Amino acid sequence: MRAMNPEKVLSVHHWTDELFSFTTTRDPGFRFKNGQFTMIGLQTEGKPLMRAYSMVSANHEDHLEFFSIKVQDGPLTSRLQHIQEGDEVLVNTKPTGTLVVDHLKPAKRLWMMSTGTGLAPFMSLIKDPYVYESFDQIILVHGCRYVSELAYEQDITQDLPNDELIGELVSNQLLYYPTVTREEYKHQGRITDLLESGKLAEDLGLPQPNTDEDRFMLCGSPAMLDDMCVILERNGFHESRHGEQAEYVIERAFVEK
Ligand code: A2P
Repeated sequence: MRAMNPEKVLSVHHWTDELFSFTTTRDPGFRFKNGQFTMIGLQTEGKPLMRAYSMVSANHEDHLEFFSIKVQDGPLTSRLQHIQEGDEVLVNTKPTGTLVVDHLKPAKRLWMMSTGTGLAPFMSLIKDPYVYESFDQIILVHGCRYVSELAYEQDITQDLPNDELIGELVSNQLLYYPTVTREEYKHQGRITDLLESGKLAEDLGLPQPNTDEDRFMLCGSPAMLDDMCVILERNGFHESRHGEQAEYVIERAFVEK
């Protein structure tokens, strides 16, 4: 198999001046687990320029979807933000990642904690029937600065509950908690503060997370990941390492960029 597949852009959606999503064709040989990421990029000056991106799309879908920031002087995203239908994007054929249900000890609830584009792998995971088989309830928490950055809100609240394949699972088992930090909204505050103060569970009508019943997946800004780890460890949760089952997992792929 080739190391990289050239894929055609099928659609581009700009959420804000700083966020966009796009879909591409998918080589039928490109296999991945929901929640994983791969390197994607563009051919620039004769060389591939690649960065880690989680798949937003689930592995049963025909196309691929990605969610990206636009950094005006970013080597890749300054270019990637201008892609249009028909353009070519390179997709590395070896996906990987740590947001894997089987790395978590069995429990009642799974909390998916994200900020910004850290939502991406969870969009894939909430379309996976195995996730709903593994936990009674899935809680998707997305923290952003502004309401306009709460991408995929409509997909989560309107489209997925009506989906032929997983609509019923989503309606019965998925709870969605969007929150913003820099303007008025129904939920406000950092996801860390909301967890620590107990407000998050209270608003959702759930018991406070505990090591017997709750598991966590984290993806988002490095500062959020650091702070979340401190809170979780203080409460007795341990991170899964080397594939051993524990109480939480973190996607660190984007942290070293
Ligand atoms: P805040 O507005 O208070 O900085 P960013 O766009 O910088 O990646 O941030 C996305 C969201 O993550 C924002 O709502 C931001 O809140 C929040 N955030 C930033 N740092 C942390 C942190 N250490 N813990 C929790 N949330 C954070």
